[in-house]
Amino acid sequence: MTPVSQESVAPESDAPTSGALKTGALDAVPPSAGSGGVAAVRALCWPDIPAVAAAEAELFPDDAWSPASWWGELAARPRRDYVIAVDPGGALLGYAGADHGGEVSDLMTIAVTSAARGRGLGRLLLAEIEHRARARGAAALLLEVRADNAAALELYRSSGFDVLSTRRRYYQPGDVDAVVMRKLLADKGGDAT
Ligand SMILES: CC(C)(COP(=O)(O)OP(=O)(O)OC[C@H]1O[C@@H](n2cnc3c(N)ncnc32)[C@H](O)[C@@H]1OP(=O)(O)O)[C@@H](O)C(=O)NCCC(=O)NCCS
Repeated sequence: MTPVSQESVAPESDAPTSGALKTGALDAVPPSAGSGGVAAVRALCWPDIPAVAAAEAELFPDDAWSPASWWGELAARPRRDYVIAVDPGGALLGYAGADHGGEVSDLMTIAVTSAARGRGLGRLLLAEIEHRARARGAAALLLEVRADNAAALELYRSSGFDVLSTRRRYYQPGDVDAVVMRKLLADKGGDAT
């Protein structure tokens, strides 16, 4: 796994959430989550970009975001909003992010490193993004996923997302459909403070 800088310091409101995740999302993480301890989720910071970009290249070899793209995404805060999951040693376990566009937030990306999968981190990261979307007042969280991505589809379905539409042959090459999914948040708020 790629180490994440220990010098990353998030702003007060986005402070590392290890041990006391404000969203309550960590409640969903089993003690074995991560690669040797309880994982923490915190805001992505500039010094994390090399590690995240390296993981991205490994996880999405066909269309990985470059370091320059990540710089652009981080520069677009607060509308763009990224978090990472790290183990107690600071090693990167996963990341996720959203675009908060008012009534609708869009999940931009979510990924867990191969070695850390199947331990609840994907669900944790998604819960954190959902919490952040609620806190921004979003009424819905939308996403697009490849129709052949069984793990992601099941994560989203079991997290309360419904299929809105399908975009035929959206992903090229390969003619893979894109499934557009949505989770309504407005009537389930109350934890957005
Ligand atoms: C999708 C992804 C983020 C899931 O991360 P994860 O940490 O392994 O997921 P979790 O352990 O939190 O599992 C949450 C749920 O996802 C589903 N899930 C996870 N892996 C699965 C698999 N291999 N097959 C089917 N369902 C799976 C299950 O519903 C699971 O709930 P359960 O453990 O109660 O059965 C991870 O597989 C990943 O990073 N994939 C590569 C990147 C990617 O495709 N991102 C999504 C782009 S849209």
